Amino acid sequence: QNRKAIIAGNWKMNMTPTEAGHLIDALVPAVQGANCEVVICVPFTDLCVAVAKCSGTNIHVGAENVHFEKSGAFTGEISADMLTDLGVEYVVIGHSERRQYFAETDETVNKRARAALAGGLKPIICVGESLAQREQGVTEELVRMQVKIALNGVTAEELKNVVIAYEPIWAIGTGKTATADQAQEVCAAIRKVVGELYGEDAAKALTVQYGGSMNAKNAEELLSKPDVDGGLIGGASLKADQFAIIVDAAS
Ligand code: G3H
Repeated sequence: QNRKAIIAGNWKMNMTPTEAGHLIDALVPAVQGANCEVVICVPFTDLCVAVAKCSGTNIHVGAENVHFEKSGAFTGEISADMLTDLGVEYVVIGHSERRQYFAETDETVNKRARAALAGGLKPIICVGESLAQREQGVTEELVRMQVKIALNGVTAEELKNVVIAYEPIWAIGTGKTATADQAQEVCAAIRKVVGELYGEDAAKALTVQYGGSMNAKNAEELLSKPDVDGGLIGGASLKADQFAIIVDAAS
C-alpha cells in the first residue's frame, strides 16, 4: 500500500489565537519526525498564527470550511483563494456539524470541494451516517451516495488531492468509537465506490480516514485496519501529548 496515512486534528470552535500559539508550540516537538502526514485544521482566526508557527515544521495547516464562490457579496464567508494566499493547504468540508447546524447538503459539499480543489486546497471531505441510519441498515448506501455527490465533477487529477473522512455521527464527541471492524467496513466501501468512479489505481491511492472519538487508546487498533489510512481527530487533537500518541500510532 503506497498511500499516505494522514492524521488531522479538527479543532472545531476551540482555541483563541493565543491558545493556538501555545498548543502549536507544544505540538511541534511532539510530532517531529512522524512518518505520517500531520495536519491541524483550525478556526479561521487561528490560521495566521498556525501558518507562521508551522512553517518549516512537518505540520500542515488546514481550515475548517471554505465558501464555494471565488469572491463577492457573501458577508462572513472565506474563499479558497484567501486560504491558499495565507499558506493554508487543507480544508475540512461537509463535517456533520456543518451539515446538522448550518444546513450543509451533499450539493453544497460538492460545490465547496470543487471550489477548494480549483483554488489549490486539499479537501478532507466528511461523510457518515447517523445512529438511526445505521440501525436502519442504510449506512453503506448512504455513504456511497454522499461520496458520489461530493465528487461529482471532480477530475481524476484532482482526486489525487482529495481525502475522505468516514465519521459516523453517533461516534463524534460521544466517546463511542466505531469498532475497528465497523470502521474498516465503511472505509472499504468508500474505496470501492471511488474505484467504480475513477478506477482501481485511483482508489488504492486515496487516503480514507476514520473520525469519531479516536484517541490515544484506540488509535492503534483502528489504524491497523487495511482501509483506514488515518484519522480526523476532534477532542484528542486539543492536547499535544494525546495527539502525538495518535500520530505515533499511524507512523
Ligand atoms: O472532525 C472530527 C470528528 O468530528 C471527531 O471528533 O474526536 O471529538 O469525536 P471527536
